[in-house]
Amino acid sequence: MRALVVHPQPEALGELTEILSSRELVVDTARSATEALNRSSGADYAVLVTNHQPPELDGIDLVERVRRYLPEVLAVVMGGASLADTPTNGAGQVFRFIARPEDRRQLAGIINEALKLVRLEREQRELVRRLRGDQEKLMRREKLLDTVVRERTREVVEAYDKLKAANRQALLGLAEAIEAKDAYTKGHCARVAAYSLELARVAGYPAEGMEALEFSAFLHDIGKIGIRDSVLLKPAALTDDEWLHMKRHPVIGYEIASKIEILRPTMSCIRNHHERWDGTGYPDGLKGEEIPLSARIVALTDAFDAMATDRPYKKALSPPECHEALRRQAGKMFDPGLVELFIENHVDDLFRTEEEQSNTTSSGG
Ligand SMILES: [Fe+2]
Repeated sequence: MRALVVHPQPEALGELTEILSSRELVVDTARSATEALNRSSGADYAVLVTNHQPPELDGIDLVERVRRYLPEVLAVVMGGASLADTPTNGAGQVFRFIARPEDRRQLAGIINEALKLVRLEREQRELVRRLRGDQEKLMRREKLLDTVVRERTREVVEAYDKLKAANRQALLGLAEAIEAKDAYTKGHCARVAAYSLELARVAGYPAEGMEALEFSAFLHDIGKIGIRDSVLLKPAALTDDEWLHMKRHPVIGYEIASKIEILRPTMSCIRNHHERWDGTGYPDGLKGEEIPLSARIVALTDAFDAMATDRPYKKALSPPECHEALRRQAGKMFDPGLVELFIENHVDDLFRTEEEQSNTTSSGG
């Protein structure tokens, strides 16, 4: 560290330099305030020792001026006993006053004390600087981590969405593959799915089950993959044996769905979509609310779409005829509550133009 000693007399400067110089402290000297200020502007002094009245300036004024360059400098002012007792404004900036010239010998001790203080302050500043640096580093790291996590999350969500979309395409493609065998059923699965979702909505079906219901409706006849074409596509009435074979499709579909993870939630609907409310359906002969709600919904919408579209063996029924047929089968084939919800909420308007809908309404359907 460096000290600056200011005194007009060369002998006093020599004496002070001798007292103060040590391994730790290099001493510079100045004989006037002007010289002291010149030196201070270019050097990093830890300590300033000045006599009470160097030429040109009051000692305390000099301290004030030097501290503009070196705000941390520890200043010791010698002589001027009265100053120590009646400090002026600038006196607060002075570390220690030495009252009488003959007390100079105390200077070594005072300066040692001052140097300890300077070291302590410097250490403290260094610590604060390091801590601040560490904190900034930590904050930067945290921010980076946050960005990385957000980015990864987005990627995972995107990948999941893509996978889901791909699964959906594959499943719906499967349903369409079954439909493709028979031109007359084209679009049937998509319509059954749409009617089912709408009927489920008005029936208060749980939101988290909607996706499974959509798949169930789309794929309810997936078991037809296992039905012989000679039976599936037979243009005439089926024999008893052929009917028995045909009636296996819900169980075949159920078995297919049980082997595909994503189709597990659709198993019960696929198996039971030919059950009847009165218990005379197949394959399990379930009755009323024993039949899963999803299967009751699909039983109704599947039958409705068959009535409402042209088939090779019959023309489409008009909307009022469809409603009449549904009501006739309420409590027999279909859940009567669902039949009413279907008709009251105009679920069947989904695939009708506005004109067709107004015709339906005016004809009393
Ligand atoms: Fe079926």
